[in-house]
Order: sequence, then C-alpha cells, then structure tokens
Amino acid sequence: MERNELKERVAALNDRFEGAAPVEILRHFLSDFNGKIALSTSLGAEDQVLTEMVVSINPSVRIFTLDTGRMFPETYDAIEMTNARYKVNIEVFFPDYRQVEEMVREKGINLFYESIENRKLCCHIRKIEPLKRALAGLDVWISGLRRAQSVTRENLHTVEWDENNNMIKVNPLINWSEEEVWEYIKQKNIPYNKLHDKGFPSIGCQPCTRAVEPGEDIRAGRWWWENPENKECGLHVKKD
Ligand code: ADX
Ligand code: SF4
Repeated sequence: MERNELKERVAALNDRFEGAAPVEILRHFLSDFNGKIALSTSLGAEDQVLTEMVVSINPSVRIFTLDTGRMFPETYDAIEMTNARYKVNIEVFFPDYRQVEEMVREKGINLFYESIENRKLCCHIRKIEPLKRALAGLDVWISGLRRAQSVTRENLHTVEWDENNNMIKVNPLINWSEEEVWEYIKQKNIPYNKLHDKGFPSIGCQPCTRAVEPGEDIRAGRWWWENPENKECGLHVKKD
C-alpha cells in the first residue's frame, strides 16, 4: 500500500481500536494486512501472549526476533520452546557482522557501559538496523508495548505511525497491566522465558539487563546505570 494512504488510515484505526480486546484488534489487522504484517518478539511475557493470540488466528503468521548476539541463554531456550509449542519457526535476524566488528574494534566489546552514545550505537547496530531488514516490504508490525511499562511509554497509542520505519505499528496490549499478562499466560499455559522466575520482569540483552528486587520498577533492571528518560534502545523512539 502507498505510504501516504497507509499513514492517513492511522487515526481512524486508532479511534476504532483504542480500548478494544487484543484478539479483536489482531483479528482485524491480520486479515486486512494479510502477508504484509509480522509480530516482533523479544520472547518476553507480553510477546508470548501475542504469539499465542496470533497463531490461534493465523498459524502461518510471520514472527521474527532480533538476536543481538548478546542474549541470555534462557531467551534462546524460549525460542525453541515457542517454536515447538506453536509449530512455528520464529525468524531470527542477526546484526551485520562488519558493523559489529568495526564497532568492537574501535570501542571495545562492552562499550555500552562507557556512555549513552556508545550504548545507543550498540543498540543501533545490533537492533535497529536488523529491525529495518526484518520489516522490509511490510505495512504493519505488531509489538508488545504496554503503557504501564515506563515513563517513556505513557503516551503511546494502540495504533501508531512509525516514522522511523515508515509503517503502522500496532500495540494490542497497550492497556494491559502486568497482572493481566500473567493471568493470561497461566490461563493458557503459555511457555515463557525462565528468566521471569529469576527476578527479571523485563528482558533484553544480558550485559544490559539485571534482576530487580520485589517492588522495584519493572524496567529498573534495563540499562540500570542510565536515567529512566533515556532508557529506550531506539526500536520504539519517536522522531522529534
Ligand atoms: S526494548 O525497546 O526496551 O528493548 P521491550 O523489551 O520493552 O523493548 O519490548 C517491547 C517490544 O519491542 C516487544 O514487545 C517486541 O515487540 C519488541 N522487541 C524488543 N526487543 C526485541 C527483539 N530482540 N526482537 C524483536 N522484537 C523486540
Ligand atoms: Fe548492545 Fe546493550 Fe543495546 Fe544490547 S541492549 S544492543 S548489548 S547496548
């Protein structure tokens, strides 16, 4: 679909689906954009819920993940468990090895602890660029963002225009609480990343994610050495 035409539909789609049940939202988008839509999964709890939902609507839906090369072993196990349970083959996208090699040669293997600039460079090379390749040719991507996750996500909508990737982003779980996510996982017996049982409510790359104490903010363990306002890797950052 023409980008302008697509962009013009966002407001009406958002009005229609803001507050709707996630399955209802997904049913509409998977049918209307069949072949032009994919689920982006980090193998975290929200994405496991969405995987269950999309596969129940369309068993051959495209599901992809970005392997930064710095993931936890538990996350690789979660890919396998999910593939087996849902009879899917989650597409794994890797970063461009030349860019990774150049970055590591120039700035070191653990460059991200040294400055926000370094951290953003690493996220760019290991996540943002592969995301662009994963999304090529699509009109819509589905993401597991929730408003309650962080201060940086309070103003998100169910249906958004993603300026960076020039396409629609739909966030079916935008209004869900963490409790609702876990309720659904238990109710449907959905396989989940074992790190969630070890104090990790939000999971990213191994060097940039730590466990949190009970009562601590759910994203407190992501890039824990940075301020809350900076803590986005760029996958979901809006252009100014
Ligand atoms: S992040 O930007 O801080 O890393 P978060 O872990 O909250 O994001 O996940 C939010 C959504 O971004 C997920 O529901 C998923 O759609 C997408 N996402 C995050 N990390 C990945 C990944 N490694 N591969 C694919 N999608 C991802
Ligand atoms: Fe690199 Fe950390 Fe970003 Fe992962 S989260 S891409 S290791 S800076």
